[in-house]
Amino acid sequence: MQKSFDLIFVSSNDHKYLEAKNILESFGIKLGFLKSDLEEIQSSSLEEIALRKAKDAFSKFKKPVITEDDGLFINSLGGFPGPYSSYVFKTIGNDGVLNLLRNNRKAKFVSIITYCDKTILQSFNAKLDGIISKSQKGKGWGYDPIFIPKNSKKTFAEMDDKNKLSHRYKALKKFSNWYLHK
Ligand code: IMP
Repeated sequence: MQKSFDLIFVSSNDHKYLEAKNILESFGIKLGFLKSDLEEIQSSSLEEIALRKAKDAFSKFKKPVITEDDGLFINSLGGFPGPYSSYVFKTIGNDGVLNLLRNNRKAKFVSIITYCDKTILQSFNAKLDGIISKSQKGKGWGYDPIFIPKNSKKTFAEMDDKNKLSHRYKALKKFSNWYLHK
């Protein structure tokens, strides 16, 4: 049975919303969208950034909201860019990241989906292991052209089924299990 229509995704990123909408629809949840820049504190903890962002979204719109924070953590760079992924993408971009890497290309994508309403503030974390490709492949947004999930030969940007296995999918699945039973 479909639930809600009163859950809003607050983000400045259309790509994230479109993927989240598609994923949540597969679990029977309709997702609205409010495009907005939210408070993004500077912190080495993605969790801390996520909680502050969701609180900011709820205080702005006074409706049950979800927000998302992601990070690309590269093993050979000690987890960098992690919480600084957005800044690194804007400054050195995918080519800059590729230039930093040699043999060890292991990485993980982390997603934190945070729900906030009048009484509840709760986060759902997921990670997806993978590797960084040697060159950009496929047309996609953000780090999609350089991230190859484990057990795949294709980058996210080359895949048709990213939404069935991504870090976002995994975090939203955890969220849905909770949301549909709360
Ligand atoms: P933030 O949560 O928007 O700060 O995301 C951090 C960085 O990771 C941004 O540059 C996003 O564009 C990028 N990013 C987050 N999720 C994905 C994804 O699914 N594919 C590609 N890049 C992503």
